[in-house]
Amino acid sequence: MKNYVSASVLSADMLELKKEIKKLEISGIDMLHFDVMDGSFVDNITFGLPVLQQVRKATDMKLDVHLMINDPLRYASAFADYGADMISFHIESSSDTLATIRKIKEKGVKASVALKPATSAEEVFEFLPYLDMVLVMTVEPGFGGQDFLHGTLDKISVLRKKINELGLDIDIEVDGGINAETSVLVKRAGANVLVSGSYLFGAADMAAAADIIREDLPC
Ligand code: DX5
Ligand code: ZN
Repeated sequence: MKNYVSASVLSADMLELKKEIKKLEISGIDMLHFDVMDGSFVDNITFGLPVLQQVRKATDMKLDVHLMINDPLRYASAFADYGADMISFHIESSSDTLATIRKIKEKGVKASVALKPATSAEEVFEFLPYLDMVLVMTVEPGFGGQDFLHGTLDKISVLRKKINELGLDIDIEVDGGINAETSVLVKRAGANVLVSGSYLFGAADMAAAADIIREDLPC
């Protein structure tokens, strides 16, 4: 499976967002990861629809929206209309999972279910036939710059095995604490879409850092 890097703009300089997006484009980043937090599902508040609309106007990059909100069913259509190419929402949220997937897909947008570190892979099995991607959180959602939780690696392996058994074509995205070292571990476990915030934005050479986390494992 092809690997992709999705840059989390949570680590960008918000006052220079347009320049930061250009830098992502020049560095060959595959997608822009847009973390929406409502201060209720997680203990942080970030940005929402009006910012997404501006970002959509500023770039043709794929917009990978991660909703950390209580009621994604209510807002899924709006995030699709405002320019999301793919939408991840949490299975632990209060919305009905299948109804939310349908709402996203009827807009022609890729649908993904996100799992917190404590949620098991099995929780998402029944939804796999309807999904384009599963997002495995490798830190507790809410903040950038946290340390990778190694206990999430088994979950990635279990998910990849199940997806293969079912013969499905589903990406596994990982989010939180991804860097040169942890990227090897998650790819070995079966992830192929790697979100990175602090590692990418903190790198002296963003393009080289992206190549490192995207690179195929030696056979
Ligand atoms: C955390 C967010 C992540 C975060 C990743 O809740 O979902 O996308 O920005 O940042 P790093 O790569 O710094 O862990
Ligand atoms: Zn995220």
